[in-house]
Amino acid sequence: MRNRRLIIANWKMNPLSIDEARRLAMSIEHRMHQFHNKADVAVCPPFLFLPALSQYLHFIKLGAQNCSWEETGPFTGEVSPGQLSQYRVEYVILGHSERRLNFGESDGAVMLKLFEAMKRKLTPVLCLGGEKNAKKEGMKRLVSKQFKDCLAGIDKKDWHKIVFVYEPVWAISTMSKGEPATGEHAVELISYIRSLIAKGVGKHAAATIKILYGGSVNRTNAAQFAHFEEIDGALVGAAGLEAENFTEVIREFARTGSN
Ligand code: PGA
Repeated sequence: MRNRRLIIANWKMNPLSIDEARRLAMSIEHRMHQFHNKADVAVCPPFLFLPALSQYLHFIKLGAQNCSWEETGPFTGEVSPGQLSQYRVEYVILGHSERRLNFGESDGAVMLKLFEAMKRKLTPVLCLGGEKNAKKEGMKRLVSKQFKDCLAGIDKKDWHKIVFVYEPVWAISTMSKGEPATGEHAVELISYIRSLIAKGVGKHAAATIKILYGGSVNRTNAAQFAHFEEIDGALVGAAGLEAENFTEVIREFARTGSN
C-alpha cells in the first residue's frame, strides 16, 4: 500500500526579507497546480513570515520549524503551538539535527513539544537521525534510542498523528560532507522505523503512518528516493529555497506516488 506523499521544504533561517519569502512561496504555489491532487506540499519558513504567507498560499500548506512546549507565559523568545495555529500552520518540525546540535535540544524536550503540538492539532514532523558525530553504521541504534525517548510519554493511540522523518545528520547538505544517503539505505532505516512503530500499534496501523527521508534531496537525486514505495516523501532543505528545484522534487514524488 502506498501512502499519499508529502514533500516539506525546511527553509531554515532563510530568506532574509519578507519580499523574497513571498516571491519564493508564490513561485512554488504557481507551479503547484499540476500536483496538488497528487501529493501534499508544505513549506516551513521562519516564524516571522508565517502570518504574511498564510494569506497568500492555498495549495501549499504551512509549517513551523520549532515550537515551545508551553502554551503562554514567561518564556522569552519562544513561540507556542497555540500561537502558530492561528496562522494556518499545520505542521511543525521537531527534533531537527540543527536544533539538537546548535541549541542542545534533548529527546525529553522534543517529547514535551510533541505533546503540546498535538494538543493544538499541529502535525509534528519528527526528525530521527541527528546526533553529533553520528556514523552511518550506528544509525539503527541512534534512531531506536531517539524513537524510544521522544515517544516515551506519548500515548500510542496518538502516534498516527505524527509524520516521521529519517534524516541522518551526515546527509544534510550543509553538514561537513553532506552526501545524501542511498535510496537503499533510506529504505532500510525507514522500514526499521516502521517496525518500531508496528511494535507499538501493530503492522496495519504502522503501514498508514508517513515516514519521509531527509538529507540533500534535490532535483537530480529525487528519483532515487521517490522510486521506493516505502518512502512517503521528503524533507528538503537547500533545494526548497529554489522554486524550480523544489518543484522537480515534488514532480518526482507525485509521479511515482498514489493520489
Ligand atoms: P538539506 O537539508 O536538504 O539541505 O540537506 C535538509 C534538512 O536539514 O532538513
